[in-house]
Amino acid sequence: MTFSDFPATRLRRTRMTEWCRRMVAENTLTVDDLIWPVFVIEGENKVEKVDSLPGVERMSVDRLVTAAKEAQALGIPAIHAFSSTDQRLKTNDGREVCNPNNLICTAAREVKAACPNLGFICDVALDQYTDHGHDGVFRDDEIHNDETVDILVEASLIHARSGCDVIAPSEMMDGRIGAIRDALEGEGHQNTLILSYAAKYASKFYGPFRDALGSQGNLTNKDKKSYQMDPANTDEALREVGMDLAEGADMVMVKPGMPYLDVLHRVKETYRVPTYAYQVSGEYAMIKAAGANGWLEEEAVMLESLLAFKRAGADGILTYFALEVAKILND
Ligand code: PBG
Repeated sequence: MTFSDFPATRLRRTRMTEWCRRMVAENTLTVDDLIWPVFVIEGENKVEKVDSLPGVERMSVDRLVTAAKEAQALGIPAIHAFSSTDQRLKTNDGREVCNPNNLICTAAREVKAACPNLGFICDVALDQYTDHGHDGVFRDDEIHNDETVDILVEASLIHARSGCDVIAPSEMMDGRIGAIRDALEGEGHQNTLILSYAAKYASKFYGPFRDALGSQGNLTNKDKKSYQMDPANTDEALREVGMDLAEGADMVMVKPGMPYLDVLHRVKETYRVPTYAYQVSGEYAMIKAAGANGWLEEEAVMLESLLAFKRAGADGILTYFALEVAKILND
């Protein structure tokens, strides 16, 4: 490709007016790009603030149903539910994940009954249910891969039976996608989708999320580096994604978001499959905190951060801003 030189080419010409900037825009953010992560708690008509995530609330199932209706009305395609499990139900093996009446299974049944056109995504990772805060079976100072996968398989079936449309395993055990896919096929859930947290890094940007789950304290002085990826690596992310696709993932995710846009871009360029980014709790908290202090223009920065994911190749973004952004985009 050859381009003429200045002054025949003046790249500022197309930037001069708002209509022209819109006309040449290469990427746009729409409500279809938004997935809303939500936290579910025990109880009725209950909402709790999360200190480190201003504007985010944990909700009892009935309140979640109301919020889900709002999300559906705004045109958000899907919500992603996490269990903020009562500490008393947390155990070493996280067995509550396999309780067909746990918070997420109950939420799936009720949300799908009220909002059949809203996708319901759930994470079957054990950290929501373990007293040590790890995502797997933890014994002798080690996370046991294959034993964890066995539990994830059972949990995935239970969640699929409860009406979850998408199983989104976030714990980075090897071989779990294939095992879950086989089990779903075997039980007739051939249309249950799998969104793999495929390239998930051992990141400190998850801090506020662990507060929201109440697992931060449980995880004190421990890290997840033996299963989540090293922030130094990207070739390895391509191997992770490739394996998950080969094992039967329908969609893949890169997480965290903004500090990992290079990974997102490489994944999308390499595989050309539905690829999602998670703008994680720490990223949200930073924008909120700077906004509250008047250091950044919060709304503009929020929209710019989300557009950056589109430019890097995301087909959608999991973001705690989803509801707020959908309202702005619909205006
Ligand atoms: C659990 C899980 C985490 C997040 C999503 N699922 C935290 C972790 O791995 O410790 C983080 C999301 C966020 O920070 O917003 N496996």
